[in-house]
Amino acid sequence: MNQDEQFEKSIRPALIDEYIGQTEVKENMKVFIEAAKIRHESLDHVLLYGPPGLGKTTMAYIIANELDVNIKTASGPSIEKPGDLAAVLSSLEPGDVLFIDEIHRMPRYIEEILYPAMEDFTLDIIIGSEGSTRNIKIDLPPFTLVGATTKAGDLTSPLRDRFGIVNKLQYYTEEELTQIVKRTSRVLDTQIDDEAARELAKRSRGTPRIANKLFRRVRDFALVENKDIIDIDVTKKALERLKIDKSGLDETDKELILAVIEKFSGGPVGIDSLATAIGEEVSTIEDMYEPYLIQEGFLKRTSRGRIATEKAYKYFEKERYTIWK
Ligand code: ADE
Repeated sequence: MNQDEQFEKSIRPALIDEYIGQTEVKENMKVFIEAAKIRHESLDHVLLYGPPGLGKTTMAYIIANELDVNIKTASGPSIEKPGDLAAVLSSLEPGDVLFIDEIHRMPRYIEEILYPAMEDFTLDIIIGSEGSTRNIKIDLPPFTLVGATTKAGDLTSPLRDRFGIVNKLQYYTEEELTQIVKRTSRVLDTQIDDEAARELAKRSRGTPRIANKLFRRVRDFALVENKDIIDIDVTKKALERLKIDKSGLDETDKELILAVIEKFSGGPVGIDSLATAIGEEVSTIEDMYEPYLIQEGFLKRTSRGRIATEKAYKYFEKERYTIWK
């Protein structure tokens, strides 16, 4: 676990009522959790999808906590062999939550082991070596698979269909992010005034992970400047130093939009060319940068590639030249 992950874990809410925002998801989950508890059954499998940093992992931990069961975690890319999945499945106790992050990155042939496990709580495995193999079925305790993905479209339909509960997480409003910043300030015992909390919220791209990360950096500036409360001045100064602009766009967001405008005449440009132009991975652009820029109307995705919108031209004060032929 890296430092950021440790930090996130330390400030994560443990109960569903402490979780801010995602109201519909939260209210529905409360009902499903309560019903599972009344019936003394495992909760149906849950798929959580949406852009990174919106609280999918946090929600998975809360589900396990509210059900009062253990949570075992794995991630799609870390499950390389059927045995890896078999090992984690056979370690589960009745009612436990198995959380698989980035479930869309799990190899397909491993996915197939999950189908009977999810449906009938059985593990079908082949043992022995070539020539003398045998299929064996092992009963598993009832469990809840919580899968998280940034790309629901990349899941195969047999896997997607096996989740009884499917939740899409949305970007947070400024108000919700302000509350999250204030909550973090209480947990970390560092005061922030309302104006500063709102400013951080405004510049966090709708994403709690970003809000909390920025909070940590602003807190460093306040500490070094001997301020015992984070105010708007130190917040603005820190954000300026971090090159986070008034809408929360960072240097990469800016570079991405300007590349479309300046290097590709506003587009359409294919994602591969765009990635090469700014020196980022295609998946980083697709998962982390583009969703927010599209949601905010700076970029548009068309069948021929990405295009910069009128709003993008205005925002960066660029002229749009049209060549009439
Ligand atoms: N920290 C990260 N996401 C959060 C959320 N949705 N509510 C409260 N704290 C959070």
